[in-house]
Amino acid sequence: MKHKKSILITGGAGFIGSHVVRLFVNKYPDYHIFNLDLLTYAGNLENLQDVEKSSNYSFLKADITNEPEINKLFDLYRFEGVIHLAAESHVDRSISDPLAFVKTNVMGTMVLLNAFKKIWEGDFNGKRFYHISTDEVYGTLGDTGLFSETTPYDPNSPYSASKASSDHFVRAYGETYKLPYIISNCSNNYGENQFPEKLIPLFINNILENKMLPVYGDGNYTRDWLYVKDHAEAIDLVFHKGKNTATYNIGGFNEWKNIDLVKLLCQQMDVKLSKPKGTSEKLITFVKDRPGHDLRYAIDASKISQELGWKPSVTFEEGLSKTIDWYLNNKDWLENVTSGAYQTYYEKQYK
Ligand code: NAD
Ligand code: TYD
Repeated sequence: MKHKKSILITGGAGFIGSHVVRLFVNKYPDYHIFNLDLLTYAGNLENLQDVEKSSNYSFLKADITNEPEINKLFDLYRFEGVIHLAAESHVDRSISDPLAFVKTNVMGTMVLLNAFKKIWEGDFNGKRFYHISTDEVYGTLGDTGLFSETTPYDPNSPYSASKASSDHFVRAYGETYKLPYIISNCSNNYGENQFPEKLIPLFINNILENKMLPVYGDGNYTRDWLYVKDHAEAIDLVFHKGKNTATYNIGGFNEWKNIDLVKLLCQQMDVKLSKPKGTSEKLITFVKDRPGHDLRYAIDASKISQELGWKPSVTFEEGLSKTIDWYLNNKDWLENVTSGAYQTYYEKQYK
């Protein structure tokens, strides 16, 4: 049998990971894609129903913090490439349970780095460890300026501190052990299959349920939004064409103040639900601010654009419209993920 290149994608049952898994399984029949995921509240195999029977795809239920288990899987499957997305990813949860973030994001990354080093040290040629990170490691911007690849790290939330820490360890393994790594730091993603704790899917779900739309503080916080499938394409490019030890910033060239974004979302929802203009906006409620709330994120994505020829494929209005359509056509998915433990989280966060 022809050898298939063995690629590990961690966190592939989550939001971004599921789009990356789908892209790789369909685009690279010569790879065997192993999706390793613990299936926490954020992981959902329903996201991957269309690829689960593909002959070049396998799912491994495992915890990245479980060192013996991870070492065993690396010994068995000899992953030549790792694309590491598994993480605790929600800032609000990191504020109520920071240790969980250190465990998964820092310790979990360390366990993967050690396992990768253990099987390939001395034979790193052609191997690659790709760590997926966030623009939040750079801290916050004022009203002007952009994050570049050389912006100093200055994380403000337990989430971003844990991601920054894992980035540092990846880089340290590159310097110390010559482990071949790449890191990319991306802005806020939105799109199909995002868990409804993050701004856009939470607000879509709340509009459908006629619940308040809780805007933190005055709503004048700014994020740079990127459609998830454009992020998946960027990850494919960086994994195949990026330079070892490099960092790439990935962003949508698309800044929105939260309140303006929420109003656009409300307008699109009213049209799609055939409701009178202004109906959804009435649900907007300004609530207590998030502690340590970063004012503004904005990415200078010129390096990935110039070096690798990447650019986003959709405008925000198009991407948002596709995203809303997906949620409207997949109400079962929404109902499944918002039953049970979600209710407890929601009550605690927005009481
Ligand atoms: P997500 O929360 O939707 O998915 C995370 C996945 O990791 C889930 O499937 C979960 O089951 C899995 N996981 C969690 N703990 C695990 C463990 N101990 N072992 C194995 N699997 C575990 O996250 P996402 O939004 O898809 O983000 C993916 C990655 O991209 C994260 O590393 C995140 O920091 C980064 N990122 C996200 C964004 C964004 O806007 N969502 C932006 C930039 C970077
Ligand atoms: P979020 O989707 O949690 O992503 P991040 O914190 O990683 O940027 O939040 C995006 C922005 O929306 C952020 O400024 C916080 C704000 N926000 C609200 O105003 N209300 C909410 O209920 C949530 C979840 C977020």
